[in-house]
Amino acid sequence: MDGNDEQKRGDDTPVIGAGPNEFSRRTFLQTMGISAAAGALADGADAQSARGPIDRVPIMGPGPVDVRLHVNGTLLHASVEPATTLLETLRMEHGLTGTKEVCDRGACGGCSVLVNGRLVASCMMLAVDAEGASITTIEGFAEGDVLDPIQEAFIRHDALQCGFCTPGLIVAVRALLNDIPRPTLDEIKRGLAGNLCRCGTYTNVFNAVLDASGQQPVRDQGGTA
Ligand code: FES
Ligand code: FES
Repeated sequence: MDGNDEQKRGDDTPVIGAGPNEFSRRTFLQTMGISAAAGALADGADAQSARGPIDRVPIMGPGPVDVRLHVNGTLLHASVEPATTLLETLRMEHGLTGTKEVCDRGACGGCSVLVNGRLVASCMMLAVDAEGASITTIEGFAEGDVLDPIQEAFIRHDALQCGFCTPGLIVAVRALLNDIPRPTLDEIKRGLAGNLCRCGTYTNVFNAVLDASGQQPVRDQGGTA
């Protein structure tokens, strides 16, 4: 995985990362870059206006900060250091290990969750930036023994091998179908471009998405995905 891949993911994936009112780790670094440039202008007459975004960044830490998250319909509290990612908080503080840590750099989609309905790489979002947000993890899909239709479709189409990418893929499929209820094969490929499967189960995953969206799987049409 190189820098080009990461850039490509940012360009191609419909919604990954923080929304317009949220603040991801990447936005933080970008903002720090802007603030550094603004600092260089601080001696100038326009220093106040040039400082810009840094003025809107709340100062937290260095000690632990209380964070409230609505996870799968339950309000959860955690006390975390400000640099703690949402992924670390979900896994380490709340025991929600269905969300996987794989690349820890926003490149693989293994840590995908929904934040206020938007697909987010939770390794790229600080927990403090998710304060008060509604989070859906893979643990929130099934109701008791009743699986989500996407999970059922993955089983029907044998859309997993080792299964490590599967939680992130299922979350990404949910985000895709929320946006496009009956996606074409090309739309499915684009929508899941940010989720990597090292076992190469893509054909079966695409068929599972077609099935879950009420469409004919490609192999049943005599073709291949
Ligand atoms: S672990 Fe977050 S994108 Fe790979
Ligand atoms: S099923 Fe093994 S990484 Fe996707």
